[in-house]
Amino acid sequence: MRRRRPPEAANGRDFPLIPDPATAELVLDQVSYRWPGGQLALDSCNLTIPGPGLWMLVGSNGSGKSTLFRLIAGLQQPQDGRIMRRRHAALVFQNPDHQLLLPSCGSDLLLGMRTGASVSDQRRRAASLLRLMGLSELETRPIHTLSGGQKQRLAIAGALASDAGLLLLDEPTALLDPESQRTVLTTVEHLCRSSPEPLTALWITHRLEELDHCDAAARMDAGRIGPWTSGQELRRRLQGGRSGR
Ligand SMILES: Nc1ncnc2c1ncn2[C@@H]1O[C@H](COP(=O)(O)OP(=O)(O)O)[C@@H](O)[C@H]1O
Ligand SMILES: [Mg+2]
Repeated sequence: MRRRRPPEAANGRDFPLIPDPATAELVLDQVSYRWPGGQLALDSCNLTIPGPGLWMLVGSNGSGKSTLFRLIAGLQQPQDGRIMRRRHAALVFQNPDHQLLLPSCGSDLLLGMRTGASVSDQRRRAASLLRLMGLSELETRPIHTLSGGQKQRLAIAGALASDAGLLLLDEPTALLDPESQRTVLTTVEHLCRSSPEPLTALWITHRLEELDHCDAAARMDAGRIGPWTSGQELRRRLQGGRSGR
């Protein structure tokens, strides 16, 4: 099988990345967070996402990744520091069953839409999102009949239905078989690179091979975020030492 060209080369980013905070999609400046009664989950974190693209985070369990996502999504407020997001952020979780609520694909998407648009506009938007995610045929299908990968793509469509421009994907492929993993990754890559309005995705992974597909990757450790590195370089480093966990 012919190997696809690594996106690192296609995107041609130079490291160290020096993002311009004025045009960045997301800036975290010295962000700290302590859960009530707990230890420090985020410790003076700095992170800048320079622009649209697929950005990845890796880190061991308990290093603060999910807490970071909750703060970026605005579900929790930092006790210290500042978060600036250019566009509305939406979360996609590891298990789509925790995110999909209504019985059919189309109805679930309508549920996530911002109110205000007419019903016919909402239906048009739902159809267009299903098309974008390669799920057009499945509009009336009961959700329990979908594969894991189809459910995860529907969960992503639901996040986009809320007009999110920043997708926060918390180990979205951890529960998927290799084929579904590839389709979800390829779909998100397309959204971030080739769609008319490229999105920004921040993607947490434990699957080191996924790092080959990102614009840049950073490592979280004990509540701190390391610098952006090429995904391939970080993969080499982590595989050289130990597993990604
Ligand atoms: N809801 C919560 N209440 C209290 N402590 C939490 C909660 N969620 C996470 N933590 C703590 O915050 C730290 C970071 O956890 P988390 O953000 O879930 O890490 P990761 O996603 O990298 O595994 C851990 O010490 C964890 O026990
Ligand atoms: Mg987590």
